[in-house]
Amino acid sequence: MEASMPKRKEPGKSLRIKVISMGNAEVGKSCIIKRYCEKRFVAKYLATIGIDYGVTKVYIRDREIKVNIFDMAGHPFFYEVRNEFYKDTQGVILVYDVSQKDSFEALDGWLAEMKQELGPHGSMENIIFTVCANKIDCSKHRCIDESEGRLWAESRGFLYFETSAQTGEGINEMFQMFYSAIVDFCENGGKRPLTNISISFTKEQADNIRRIRNSKDSWDMLGVKPGATRGIVRSPFQLLKETLTHMHCSTRGYFQ
Ligand code: GTP
Ligand code: MG
Repeated sequence: MEASMPKRKEPGKSLRIKVISMGNAEVGKSCIIKRYCEKRFVAKYLATIGIDYGVTKVYIRDREIKVNIFDMAGHPFFYEVRNEFYKDTQGVILVYDVSQKDSFEALDGWLAEMKQELGPHGSMENIIFTVCANKIDCSKHRCIDESEGRLWAESRGFLYFETSAQTGEGINEMFQMFYSAIVDFCENGGKRPLTNISISFTKEQADNIRRIRNSKDSWDMLGVKPGATRGIVRSPFQLLKETLTHMHCSTRGYFQ
């Protein structure tokens, strides 16, 4: 089944879209939505039970957009409830906590869960993803830096924002760009507009960069055993240069 286009009565008039939130428990999904919709922050953790649903109206370039937001529970316990809600989605807010490495490492698992629930005929190509690197106010405990998060997101053709639901930093900007990208996509008949093309890496290129960044020593960085001869050694900068030289413009590299 193709991911469905949102329903609209007349071109240029009101548009109805469905947006879902995804990410581990306690990363701040509900707080991000609350900060945007209600302009407030709740410090006490109130776990979402299954799904929270809300409707909000926004205006993008004078066009009224009715947004149905399905805020998912991140706890594995609620998988059976969540999996009903992946279909017919136009936008995904994918959240991790910059001070919790496991929440960043879980992002691929969230994409896999969605892909599985959409089934073999479902497509993630028609969905706009925005990644929120949340809780940036907790700078002392930060363990995933901006470049790592941005690389993960942009190598997949996703939007990336640094956010704090507590201070409000990045939240309005994220929603504005996210909704604009969905509207652009819909107005362009389900094709990614050329203006929205982002420079991105293929997954292989991103993996190379990540490996170089995470290597523990120079040998590891080169991808060879200690003592390797000159002939088989390529400098990390050469490797990086090759990767960057082959960098290409694509609207979505990961799901193709
Ligand atoms: P589930 O519903 O269980 O999936 O969790 P969730 O991702 O919706 O998390 P929620 O929004 O409930 O926030 C979890 C906890 O993190 C709460 O105690 C929030 O107050 C706190 N929190 C959320 N966002 C931020 C933030 O940007 N900064 C800080 N310091 N705390 C935050
Ligand atoms: Mg929640």
